[in-house]
Amino acid sequence: MEIIAIAAMSLDGFITRGNESGTAFTSQEDKDWFGKTMREFPIKVLGRKTFDVSRDFILRHSQEKGSGLRIVMTRDPSNFRDCQLPDRLEFTDTSATEIVASLKKRPLTDSKVAVLGGGAVYSAFLNAGLLDEFWITLEPQLFGSGTPIATEPSLATLTLKESIQLGPSTLLLKYTCES
Ligand SMILES: NC(=O)c1ccc[n+]([C@@H]2O[C@H](COP(=O)([O-])OP(=O)(O)OC[C@H]3O[C@@H](n4cnc5c(N)ncnc54)[C@H](OP(=O)(O)O)[C@@H]3O)[C@@H](O)[C@H]2O)c1
Repeated sequence: MEIIAIAAMSLDGFITRGNESGTAFTSQEDKDWFGKTMREFPIKVLGRKTFDVSRDFILRHSQEKGSGLRIVMTRDPSNFRDCQLPDRLEFTDTSATEIVASLKKRPLTDSKVAVLGGGAVYSAFLNAGLLDEFWITLEPQLFGSGTPIATEPSLATLTLKESIQLGPSTLLLKYTCES
């Protein structure tokens, strides 16, 4: 199982511009790359706040056959009983380690997992030593405030594996992670 975190970040380390939710700040080049890349990941893990931002899209998309599995981390899954679609859209209060252990027990043909944030979820996977790679798109913006890419300090060692220029001033940095 390959587990890769994917984020878009400002130069000063934020994944949102101040209190603005979502990723409207990213360049068209990153949006195009992200949309294409998501098709390579049949399994996606995200936090409840990130789910809330794309709720309508995710609910609609999860109805489609072949849409893969999305797992939303929340401390209160009972709030989402009406949205739950087994093997397509699931809500859990289990830890990152337990999520990965439960995925390994399923008969999945392709088990590439994208960890889509936000900051609390990236931290949970980093600090549990579960990430194989962290892919970060660096946008040339300075927000001064916002949601940090990691809400907890991490001792993981990130080693630059590849850097790709997505647009005139947008870099995609692919790191391998070791805890
Ligand atoms: N630029 C980017 O690449 C990027 C990527 C992702 C998200 N974002 C943006 O970032 C913002 C959200 O990020 P965020 O860091 O504030 O929130 P988040 O990580 O998306 O969600 C946090 C919530 O996830 C649940 N959660 C987190 N860790 C958990 C754990 N260990 N066990 C159980 N539940 C857990 C909790 O939900 P409950 O409160 O329900 O218990 C928590 O309040 C959004 O605006 C989103 O659009 C940007």
